[in-house]
Amino acid sequence: MGKIFDWIDAKFHVKAPHGGFLQRRLPEGLSYAYCLGGAAFTAYTILLFTGMLLSIYYVPSEHDAYSSILRIQHEVHLGWLIRGMHKWSATILIIFLIGHTLRVFISRAYRPPKELNWVVGVITMVSCFASGFTGYLLPWDQKAYWATEVGTSMAHTIPAIGTYVMYFVRGGIDVDGTTLIRFYSIHVHWLPLGMLALLWMHFHMIKRQGIKRPL
Ligand code: HEM
Repeated sequence: MGKIFDWIDAKFHVKAPHGGFLQRRLPEGLSYAYCLGGAAFTAYTILLFTGMLLSIYYVPSEHDAYSSILRIQHEVHLGWLIRGMHKWSATILIIFLIGHTLRVFISRAYRPPKELNWVVGVITMVSCFASGFTGYLLPWDQKAYWATEVGTSMAHTIPAIGTYVMYFVRGGIDVDGTTLIRFYSIHVHWLPLGMLALLWMHFHMIKRQGIKRPL
């Protein structure tokens, strides 16, 4: 492996510019709990890749969404595996995220000068929840429909503007084909793009500020 990499490096000189990025100074005494952020990132990478594969066969329309899911599950080669990986990595991501947030909180790494990275982290966490919520509707079965019906109707309880917020999220009075396309767009375009920007900020700050020394 090393010889192959040296040969590639002789042609492309990849080591030199990335040396600073890959080699970091770390404080002593880090435990496995400090790997939870990296584990969450691994789960997120799997989500992105399997999501891109699913989007090849998924049809975001009122009439075809459910049958396209059945096709992915039963007809497409290894479709069941890619769909299962997408669902499980979403669950695992949330578990790792909760663990990572607890680690950061317990080690008091949310305090200055890292308070902005904590804020970026919270927005990232909310984006992950929003990805889960919008993705849940996409199979377009009874469970998905009623979960979205109940979830979006919660917006109704916001004082004064609740009804308008609910109509805005649904794209109309009821959960229908417009809601499906709206959620699909948010799930596959807006949230992943936003998440990539947020994660870039997160990692940039970690690179500049380093990891906090354990207490
Ligand atoms: C997909 C979401 C996230 C990913 C991939 C991620 C990734 C990482 C990684 C790789 C680190 C380096 C140290 C470690 O792994 O523990 C880190 C540090 C940090 N993260 Fe996250 N993180 C995410 C979400 C969050 C959330 C939700 C919060 C807080 C609410 C947060 C706050 C922080 C802070 C403050 C640090 C600096 C910790 C220190 O210096 O000890 N992150 N993150």
